[in-house]
Amino acid sequence: MGEKPRNDRPGGRGGLQASPGAAPRRDSSASDGPPSNKIITANWGNDEVFSLDGYRADGGYEALRTALDMTSADLIDVVKASGLRGRGGAGFPTGVKWSFVPQGTGKPTYAVANFDESEPGTFSNRELIEREPHQFLEGLAIATYAIGSHDAYVYCRGEFLWPDMVLRQAIAEAYEAGIFGESVLGTGYEINVIQHRGAGAYICGEETALLSSLEGYRGQPRLRPPFPAVEGLFGCPTLINNVETLCNVPHIVRNGGEWFAKIGPEKSPGTKIFSVSGKVERPGNYELPMGSALRTLLEEHAGGVRDGKRLKAWTPGGSSTPMLTEEHLDVHLDFESIAAAGSLLGTGAIIVMDESDCIVEATRRLIAFYAHESCGKCTPCREGTWWGARVLERIEAGYGRPEDLPLLEDLGQNMLFRAFCALADGAVSPIQSSLKHFRDEYEAHIAERRCPFTGRGPGVVNETAEARAGDRGLTEVLG
Ligand SMILES: Cc1cc2nc3c(=O)[nH]c(=O)nc-3n(C[C@H](O)[C@H](O)[C@H](O)COP(=O)(O)O)c2cc1C
Ligand code: SF4
Repeated sequence: MGEKPRNDRPGGRGGLQASPGAAPRRDSSASDGPPSNKIITANWGNDEVFSLDGYRADGGYEALRTALDMTSADLIDVVKASGLRGRGGAGFPTGVKWSFVPQGTGKPTYAVANFDESEPGTFSNRELIEREPHQFLEGLAIATYAIGSHDAYVYCRGEFLWPDMVLRQAIAEAYEAGIFGESVLGTGYEINVIQHRGAGAYICGEETALLSSLEGYRGQPRLRPPFPAVEGLFGCPTLINNVETLCNVPHIVRNGGEWFAKIGPEKSPGTKIFSVSGKVERPGNYELPMGSALRTLLEEHAGGVRDGKRLKAWTPGGSSTPMLTEEHLDVHLDFESIAAAGSLLGTGAIIVMDESDCIVEATRRLIAFYAHESCGKCTPCREGTWWGARVLERIEAGYGRPEDLPLLEDLGQNMLFRAFCALADGAVSPIQSSLKHFRDEYEAHIAERRCPFTGRGPGVVNETAEARAGDRGLTEVLG
């Protein structure tokens, strides 16, 4: 290894230190707001746990020791009893997923940590790694042992230069201390960790695209079944879990599955980190028990909507989950309650829009993201996201036509559940939900031939707006 990266930013103590510049900043999970049952962020604010020594002084890696004394089956039963559900978006029960990985087939098995974290609005994994990388590594080691694997991979988002460096150093420290390598904690059980940084593609967070990318192929999804648990990395049984999911594991092993199962609602137990961004006074990551109300999160933790404005729209789980509105302020943040309200908990990424935000513009920006990130493998997504972006561009610019709204609805229906992977479904969410809740805003753009929020468009005598529309290539789709 070359010279260790240094933190020369203010507050740095030389060498690689806890979260430079970024987090103490606006994260409020550790210090602001009323106390909550924190588990995986309980140590935020304590810079000591960034290092291996500090983490161990706090009891770190004792859960791994406990786990190594258990059989794989017993360990999986503990995680099953906890009711922990995947934090990467789909909420699949973690222990059940672990039990799906066949052992003793003669093939190697692999554990893969998904640290791609590219969903707009989602930023819990990054801070978990930046603050306490060994908590994650301990969870990963336990999961690797539980499925009888000796090889763990970490797939890190391409843009995450700093977290990638933090993790590389933490892994090196753990190897040096005999936590990874030929004999984990002196038990004779071998675990090796391979870290891979992607090239910056959202689709590589989708588990099968991630595996293709890890194998050196183009990052495009694969047909399921077979599911990765049976035929994953290099055609072998593979477990894939999100970073936040894995961070919960040492605590479950230490305190027991029943302890975890008692926190929050029965079907969505535990705590969740909610990443709050957008128009709030204190954006940041907040760990609260599952089932907490959005109102509690916003008003008691995130400081409320910025400048005292009214809440207009919010996403419960990142940009790919349907928007909800002010009417849903008292909705509980757990898988079942959010589904009952018409959306998805996803990654728990709450993007807040206030009364001054133009929903058409927000939707146009989101669909542009999906159009850019579509891997192009299948037609409904490749074409649908591109055309959706164009239609939204012209509506926002004041060139929309009344028939554009049924056109957008038709587009959504032809994409939803008709594409190869869930990226396309995610792209449809902002379109369908914004039309459902804010159709009047779309109609106003079309009727007034301008954006009611910015005033831009041909509906007002404004040559600059026309020129701007032309510059953006809109003329070719104006018909
Ligand atoms: C387009 C797309 C992007 C995704 N990105 C991520 C991601 O960045 N991180 C993640 O953990 N899961 C992501 N997922 C979900 C994964 O496919 C997978 O369900 C998850 O990693 C499983 O981990 P869990 O069971 O711990 O939640 C994505 C899914 C899709 C369809
Ligand atoms: S839905 Fe989109 S991202 Fe997924 S495979 Fe098809 S083109 Fe690629």
